[in-house]
Amino acid sequence: MKNRSLVSISDFTKEEQMRVLEVAQEFEKNPVQNIMEGFVVASLFFEPSTRTRLSFESAANRLGGRVIGFSEAGSTSVKKGESLRDTILTIASYADLIVMRNPVEGSARFASEISNVPIINAGDGANQHPTQTLLDLYSIEKTQGTLDNLHVAFVGDLKYGRTVHSLVIALCNFNTTFHLVSPTELKLPSSVKMFIKEKNLEYHQYTNMEDILPVADVLYMTRIQRERFSDPLEYERIKNSYNLHNDMLQETKDNLKVMHPLPRVNEIDVNVDANPKAYYFEQALNGVFVRQALMATILGLR
Ligand code: CP
Repeated sequence: MKNRSLVSISDFTKEEQMRVLEVAQEFEKNPVQNIMEGFVVASLFFEPSTRTRLSFESAANRLGGRVIGFSEAGSTSVKKGESLRDTILTIASYADLIVMRNPVEGSARFASEISNVPIINAGDGANQHPTQTLLDLYSIEKTQGTLDNLHVAFVGDLKYGRTVHSLVIALCNFNTTFHLVSPTELKLPSSVKMFIKEKNLEYHQYTNMEDILPVADVLYMTRIQRERFSDPLEYERIKNSYNLHNDMLQETKDNLKVMHPLPRVNEIDVNVDANPKAYYFEQALNGVFVRQALMATILGLR
């Protein structure tokens, strides 16, 4: 994986993904090391982020690396009309690795084709979010003891949810049964369902979340994303489609974990946070170890 970009989760084989998870276990036990001393990571966020940006930066800092970058393109020469091409070509000469989030689907692939340092896609529009997937796989394995043969329920915005797209594709390697819960307007795109069909795995579609609660091992909640809607009225109509609250978790499996890539709006009641089945804040913490593992692997340090 040395010097390779990670744009789509399929850029890494199942074995390579598992290797990153193995290395992440090492960093979870010993997160402060100096192995990235002398390395510079560029963190380019053209779209808002809390967890992805700060966990990457925390990961690099804890390994002794330096971080340059921006969290708002308005403070850069993009504001003067500079192209993504010129921005990447310039920053690639300042850093050993570029982490980029950009609202345009395909922008990370484009950057990886012109950059002479590896590009890690931190989310490109509604397309993919592969580093979230690695931390989701890590979180699932850690809580379930396995990634194989699980019933995973995805709830919310399955159409625009890039975390959902990448995770569904990755879980196709593990004989997953998929339960896809969304408003009719936000169903999982056919291009992603194709991966499930190719592996002859089962998937079931629902609009009602209650239907899947008794069978799920993992309940992966997602936000209805206002920023992806061209029609604000459509967003207003469906924004409150799902609201998980504690009562609904009573008849669920003992091993169920509620996950969410976050940020949350109102799809999970805050009272659920204290429920032992809630796992989303631990999931966000796992992002630091997994991103340490990913950078160390790509930089050839592990
Ligand atoms: N999960 C995730 O991508 O969160 P942020 O948007 O806060 O980075």
